[in-house]
Amino acid sequence: MERKFWHDKIAYQIYPKSFYDSNGDGIGDLKGVISKLDYLKELGVDIIWLSPIYPSPFADQGYDISDYRNIDPRFGTMEEMDELLKEAHKRGQYILMDLVVNHCSDEHEWFQKAIKDPDGRYGKYFYIEEVKDGKLPCNWRSYFGGPVWDPLPGHSDRYYLHVFHRKQPDLNWENPELREEIYDMVNFWLDRGLDGFRLDAIINIKKALPFKDYFADRPDGLCSIHNELHEANGVGDFLGELRDRTFKPHDAFTVGEVFNEKEEELPDFIGENGYFSSMFDFEETVFGQSQRGWHENYDITPDDYKACVYKTQRKVSDIGFISNIIENHDEPRGVSRYLPGDMRDDSGKKLLATVYFMLKGIPWIYQGQELGMENLKLSSIDEVDDISSIDSYKVALDAGCSESKALKLIEKYGRDNARTPFQWDDSENAGFTAGTPWLRINPNYRSINLKAQKDDPSSVWNHYRNLIALRKDPEYKDIFVYGSFTPFLEDRHNIMAYIREYEGKKILVLGNFDREEKKVILPYTPDRILNNNLDELTLKGNELTLLPSQAIIAYVG
Ligand code: GLC
Ligand code: CA
Repeated sequence: MERKFWHDKIAYQIYPKSFYDSNGDGIGDLKGVISKLDYLKELGVDIIWLSPIYPSPFADQGYDISDYRNIDPRFGTMEEMDELLKEAHKRGQYILMDLVVNHCSDEHEWFQKAIKDPDGRYGKYFYIEEVKDGKLPCNWRSYFGGPVWDPLPGHSDRYYLHVFHRKQPDLNWENPELREEIYDMVNFWLDRGLDGFRLDAIINIKKALPFKDYFADRPDGLCSIHNELHEANGVGDFLGELRDRTFKPHDAFTVGEVFNEKEEELPDFIGENGYFSSMFDFEETVFGQSQRGWHENYDITPDDYKACVYKTQRKVSDIGFISNIIENHDEPRGVSRYLPGDMRDDSGKKLLATVYFMLKGIPWIYQGQELGMENLKLSSIDEVDDISSIDSYKVALDAGCSESKALKLIEKYGRDNARTPFQWDDSENAGFTAGTPWLRINPNYRSINLKAQKDDPSSVWNHYRNLIALRKDPEYKDIFVYGSFTPFLEDRHNIMAYIREYEGKKILVLGNFDREEKKVILPYTPDRILNNNLDELTLKGNELTLLPSQAIIAYVG
């Protein structure tokens, strides 16, 4: 495999609105990010992905873009963006923007022009269909609830497609003119010095055409969008063209938000000359998800988690580099989701960190994860900002859940969990802003915050820092980056154990998700222990006793 600059990097996602507010308006901003680059450097972060910072009406928190070539004034200016690139590069860091091109905002000038003249050039940038007798072109349900069709303003007989919110009209990738616009815009940023992109909802750019109905799966008479995604073939033609016209000539790093890819397509996506450098593993985030709504989801156990992660590791094997996460801005906090309730303490958080961080692939940290930030408790639906949570709340009520049960579901799965501001210290508003934060701060910031953790060698933060340093240690780096992945003790309940191996050198990673201690026989006798999340260690030859919540990384030369 040809070695690439990004293979051995540690990546970090910033949700700018909630990271650090430099001017007291309650909204995180670019100056705030710039002022924290040294912090990220100290942690060991190389690649930084910024969730959208383009001008936007914020119907979906910036994932509805009204101008692709600018910075929203709430986040800063173009000059500040240039400064961020310069300052990051000075520190050997790389900056990625979010590329949201399945849809734009209905306030984007393309859509405004399409409204004025649906038959003209810009009408063809979207999916606009004539509707007679109220029969919509298809019965797909949008991701945020309701039909994917809404009337085109000023044209009662024409409807436009939006698979997300009605303020996010889908762009018509079948139109070569639209594709040219996109490539031009992508190159605009890469020419400016941007290092790459995270590709939002990228699998959605190909639709199963012509539009048709599928079997309705809820009383609303609509069907999950997954039906059409399953039948949409040929996304690769668009993605290959995008790569060749933009990313490849710039040697950009790209990571795809890819759900529902077809397994045989994996080499096309992230193999040699794949569409992207990497893509996220969502196997464990979609586990237990019901198409009928959050009230029918079921919880993931540590054994399920293990099975999901191993499935991906085996599938990807040495095809390419998967991106491993435990959370992002669309998911609840990883520690609140994957750790059983009574294991959500510092030991448990470090355990989860260890077992996912040493997997094959690129480790990603979502802001605040390095502190062990947790889900937010809610007392009323009025406290919720996220549009998808608000829709899911309604779906749960319609399905007969009580208000308190529905609210519990939001606490568990809602996207605000990850969007509460970063907890810098224990001062008012967690040191995030001098003003009023745009979203409630998790009240646990008095105990969970960076200031309290930085100088404490046994903190979750220092554990992450140690894991990063270990992955970068020249003695072991190749094993972590290029080593194979082989599970062992796979049938042992609540134990996660695997071997990373490169040129005969091995690293063993073990974690105990059980409340009982577990005796295990290691396949090799370790030469040394590289990391232990607890103080105790009971190892005799190759017989190891794992205490509850214990995670061990061992080296066999
Ligand atoms: C992606 C984003 C999510 C957004 C959606 C629509 O899934 O991660 O936050 O709501 O796309 O752009
Ligand atoms: Ca601000």
